[in-house]
Amino acid sequence: MEIKESSKITETMSSNDKSQEILPGELLPGEIYPGEVFANTADFDVNIRQLLPRYDELLDTIVACIPSESQKVLELGCGTGELTLKLLKHCPNANIIALDYSPRMIQFAKSKIEAAGYGNRWQGIQLDFGDWAAGNKEIGNNFDACVSSLAIHHLTDEMKWKLFEKIASTLKSGGAFFNGDPVLPESDFLAEVYKNFREKLAKENGISLEEVRSKVGKSVTYGYSSQDCLATLEDHLLMLKKAGFKTITVPWKYYRMTVFGGFV
Ligand SMILES: C[S@@+](CC[C@H](N)C(=O)[O-])C[C@H]1O[C@@H](n2cnc3c(N)ncnc32)[C@H](O)[C@@H]1O
Repeated sequence: MEIKESSKITETMSSNDKSQEILPGELLPGEIYPGEVFANTADFDVNIRQLLPRYDELLDTIVACIPSESQKVLELGCGTGELTLKLLKHCPNANIIALDYSPRMIQFAKSKIEAAGYGNRWQGIQLDFGDWAAGNKEIGNNFDACVSSLAIHHLTDEMKWKLFEKIASTLKSGGAFFNGDPVLPESDFLAEVYKNFREKLAKENGISLEEVRSKVGKSVTYGYSSQDCLATLEDHLLMLKKAGFKTITVPWKYYRMTVFGGFV
């Protein structure tokens, strides 16, 4: 795939800005971390599948792109552990280090992973992955693979690029990185197409989007993450290229949802 330079992203990546350590701030009662999505953590696993068509297919594509013999895997923004569980099954010898800044999400994931019998192959760390990308925290290196789903789109473009660089330098030679995220629609017309499709699909499946959205919590900017900081797919691929990924691919795209990544 040919990757064209986009002026916006080239400007971001050539800026001399050095990230400062961002202090996380505090959540007020009733507020949630960006990316937690639902006010009640226990609603996540059922309601995310109503909010995002083909959520499982997105996760399954990420997992399929990770070599099953991987032994040391890093997950960014593990949430309730849905991607983690699929990955633990797919890679029988893997130990996973999972980062998430939300203590509620880490705790929820931990309970599910232990109940499934994988507790000895999983370590959850409460950490902002922006802090890791900025070089303020270390978690080791020589990972065989890194995965993420529905989390990195909360970072600014500059931080996405820094994160991709950090991932590339943390992976072993030939290591894999795959991410599933929404992307910025390529035009206003396509934004409307994606929105209309989403509404039509919900109607066909008897899902009330209003009802599901009423369970979405109020999130504020926290640490390096804000509610939604979408970039186009083209810009993501350019960032991966500039970060040093040698093989870059988009194994899955469904309207505004994508899985992209590559190998270093
Ligand atoms: C929408 S959930 C997705 C969880 C899981 N990956 C999945 O696909 O089901 C996004 C997760 O990313 C976490 N997150 C968002 N920004 C983060 C950051 N900067 N550092 C650590 N965790 C972050 C949120 O707390 C949340 O648990």
